[in-house]
Amino acid sequence: MRILFVGDVHGKPGRRILRDRLAKLRQAHDLALVIVNGENSAGGAGINSEVAQELFGAGADAITGGNHTWQLREAYELLDSDPRILRPLNYPPGAPGRGATVVTGRMGTPVGLINLQGRVFMRELDDPFRAARAECERLRERAPVIVIDMHAEATSEKIALGWYLDGHCSAVIGTHTHVQTADERVLPQGTAYITDVGMTGPRDGVIGMDREGILERFLTQLPVRFEVASGPAQLNAVVVDVDESTGRARSITRVREFEETNAD
Ligand code: FE2
Repeated sequence: MRILFVGDVHGKPGRRILRDRLAKLRQAHDLALVIVNGENSAGGAGINSEVAQELFGAGADAITGGNHTWQLREAYELLDSDPRILRPLNYPPGAPGRGATVVTGRMGTPVGLINLQGRVFMRELDDPFRAARAECERLRERAPVIVIDMHAEATSEKIALGWYLDGHCSAVIGTHTHVQTADERVLPQGTAYITDVGMTGPRDGVIGMDREGILERFLTQLPVRFEVASGPAQLNAVVVDVDESTGRARSITRVREFEETNAD
């Protein structure tokens, strides 16, 4: 089965290119499942129910999150009520929502999905490594195919997690930095890996935000409010081909799409 994982959808431009391109990608790659990281889908930080419905309407089957999932208070209720929307698993007990689930692909194949968050240059959460292995064991009884979104800053932490989970899941996909890395590969025990899948949103900003505000902050070191950048959008994703009987990945392929001009 082929699974598309779409990197961090950022604000309206990200939602626009997802809506415009996903149906074609689904057809071209014969996709059985579409997973979208949506932690920045509402205004460049956070998620709400309206935007989540937009992502599902565009063709997403499940939505993962990260540190920005908590930005909008209404996300708390959304996470508790919709099992297709995840937040990182390794938040302390008591956090709203869930960090793992089983979603069903278009062909009826169950797929385990786990969302993690790194701890290097980020909040001091529970251990994502041990949490992931334990959750893989739990999910495997219901689904041999397991996909993990590792939302983390440090390349080293993501690469280490990939090796630690090789053979325990079908794919470890890095998110959060918004810059696609060129290190995609299938590890020796059958786990597809990429350090960062990249960002789906404005191409001409600075990781999705308007470059003027970002530059002002770098140049003055004063607090500046950031806006989502305008202009043409990009879509960054990977297609993972998995043997659904064993859960082993056969291949991982990067996908990059660009708008010629601003479609709005
Ligand atoms: Fe993030």
